[in-house]
Amino acid sequence: MEINKVTVIGSGIMGHGIAEVIALAGIDVNIEDISNEVLDKAKASINSSLDRLVSSGKLKNKDEVLSRIHYFTDIPSSVKDADLVIEAVPEVLDIKKSVFDQLDKSTKDSAILATNTSNIRLTEIAEGIKKKGKVVGMHFFNPPVVLKLVEVIRSQYTEDEVFETVYEFSKRIGKTPIKVYKDTPGFVVNRINAPESLYFCLVIDNNLAKPEEVDRFARSQGLPMGPYELMDYVGIDTVYHSLQYYAKELSPDYSKCQVYTKLFNEKKLGLKTGEGFYKWVNGKAQIPE
Ligand code: 3HC
Repeated sequence: MEINKVTVIGSGIMGHGIAEVIALAGIDVNIEDISNEVLDKAKASINSSLDRLVSSGKLKNKDEVLSRIHYFTDIPSSVKDADLVIEAVPEVLDIKKSVFDQLDKSTKDSAILATNTSNIRLTEIAEGIKKKGKVVGMHFFNPPVVLKLVEVIRSQYTEDEVFETVYEFSKRIGKTPIKVYKDTPGFVVNRINAPESLYFCLVIDNNLAKPEEVDRFARSQGLPMGPYELMDYVGIDTVYHSLQYYAKELSPDYSKCQVYTKLFNEKKLGLKTGEGFYKWVNGKAQIPE
């Protein structure tokens, strides 16, 4: 299976980052989202990310990369010629299912339908669609333009050729993929990290420490970000939806967490809204000394 045209559905932090990675690898990519206003934000983020690559000498011709990215506000036109579609919409099952329903109807028969879901089983996302064999997980990590890891996940329905093609494609775009053979909640990486997310929530719920204290400790151990800064960076909505899903699928213990729910309800989603555990100014967390 040859991949020459890719479409990314959803232009949020992950969606526009994934599209940028693909364009940087010299491949044409469409990005689809619900409005031009949302797409304008994605354009601005891609632009400033490419500027960083230019200023650090990693990229010579920004315009060439930008010319490979095309913007759409409806799914059928955006996926018409796509060999690979990567869904990167919010981590909410109903939203993902509705996207896959549309992909089932509007993609060509040979198109691979990948999801960047962090946690939700592919079998649930693809339930009810005809092209189950074409559905595969392609899970990037934030920021996609910097982090190398991609989890390539198969379900019981995924065709061997689809799985191998996406694994090879991940290498072609400069990533270090790992194969995940079992379609279980959180796959490998987030399944391992899930208990930690709950633990860090309970630390705050029980007033054991302040986020900045735990984060300072984590950075002293050589980590680039502490856990609370990282959750703000990834998005409290993503963390919140993940824990809700784990509560349903893995253990009711995951519903014990309160602080993520509080921040989510207050729309304090971290970097993307300017405040989460911390206030964010010019892309940097304002962490108290
Ligand atoms: N675009 C382009 N370049 C970028 C960039 C971006 N968006 N973000 C960072 N960079 C580049 C910088 O320009 C810099 O390049 P240089 O070394 O050539 O100057 C380099 O990356 C380092 O960036 P900074 O100096 O700004 O700051 P840091 O050293 O702190 O790096 C970071 C930033 C890469 C985000 C680092 O803090 C980090 O790796 N944090 C942890 C991220 C992580 O763990 N992500 C995984 C989250 S889990 C997930 O995504 C799964 C999902 O399912 C939720």
